[in-house]
Amino acid sequence: YRNLRVAILGAGSVGSQVADQILRHGDELSSRIGAGLDLVGVAVRDIDAPRDTEIPRELLTTDAESLVRGADVVIELMGGLEPARTLVLSALNSGADVITANKAMLATHGPELFDAAAQVGAQLYYEAAVAGAIPIIRPLRDSLAGDRVTRILGIVNGTTNFILDRMDTVGESLEEALATATALGYAEADPTADIEGYDAAQKAAILASLAFHTRVPLDAVHREGITSVSRDQVVAARKAGYVVKLLAICDRIEGENGGVSARVHPALVPLEHPLAAVHGANNAVFVEAEAAGPLMFYGAGAGGIQTASAVLGDVVSAARRHVVGGPGVAESQHANLPVLPISAVTTRY
Ligand code: HSE
Repeated sequence: YRNLRVAILGAGSVGSQVADQILRHGDELSSRIGAGLDLVGVAVRDIDAPRDTEIPRELLTTDAESLVRGADVVIELMGGLEPARTLVLSALNSGADVITANKAMLATHGPELFDAAAQVGAQLYYEAAVAGAIPIIRPLRDSLAGDRVTRILGIVNGTTNFILDRMDTVGESLEEALATATALGYAEADPTADIEGYDAAQKAAILASLAFHTRVPLDAVHREGITSVSRDQVVAARKAGYVVKLLAICDRIEGENGGVSARVHPALVPLEHPLAAVHGANNAVFVEAEAAGPLMFYGAGAGGIQTASAVLGDVVSAARRHVVGGPGVAESQHANLPVLPISAVTTRY
């Protein structure tokens, strides 16, 4: 098989890590795909801007439009609505599969982009758009496709979870905790999106659409952020046996006037609920399905390298699709690692 040409748009905290992983572990990824991966370029606004990882200068370009046209797989990690939307459309129209972590673009232009992909037989992957490293898109889209999801309770914004957790456990103010979250790279460029609940609302729209097999537009999501939550309220809640969390709540409502609803607001979570144990910038998505019962998906919801994990999983999926007759998803093996006799394994559990 010929090598697959991969282009990255954006080299911020996630993009620079994705480039680094492809450059360093390309051979291992290739063995899982059955074809080589060539990183053909990384489109950036400023070639000389400081970055979290070292990307060879000859890969950097400011001409995203040309880069997109020559690629088999385009990874959009620039964020924002434009030029991301236009570039994704031109990538799809030129036959490339697209991977994105851009929840704002999906929540706003999702229908247009999915239709464009369907028209040309391309795929749009977005595991990284919701809850960072946590696999939640595939479980909802594939693993639970035969069940009926009735409810989702999600902690899907790391910044606000971090802030509420610090108010609860350390007694910090919202401003103090936000400054730390920003320094750690969890917050969006404009943290209003985090603390006012816009980021969580975008993710709720994506989750509700997938879980209930419908299209939930962003403006149908009720949204309230955490700016009106005080330290006193957090302390009083704990005394009463609750912890305050910003939840994305998606419900299937049965009956004659039934349908689906999605909302984001601060909520009291009983201390014994598994979501109460989600600390720091972690995320968790608690799913209730008719046959499966309750399920919980937990992990890092933000951070460059963590989110890069979800993006790279999509890269492998997209690349495998291009390698018809290559190793299938279930059959592919990576390097021939030795299989250890059980006695050679030190057990701790
Ligand atoms: N600002 C987001 C968060 C980043 O805090 O969860 C991941 O989408």
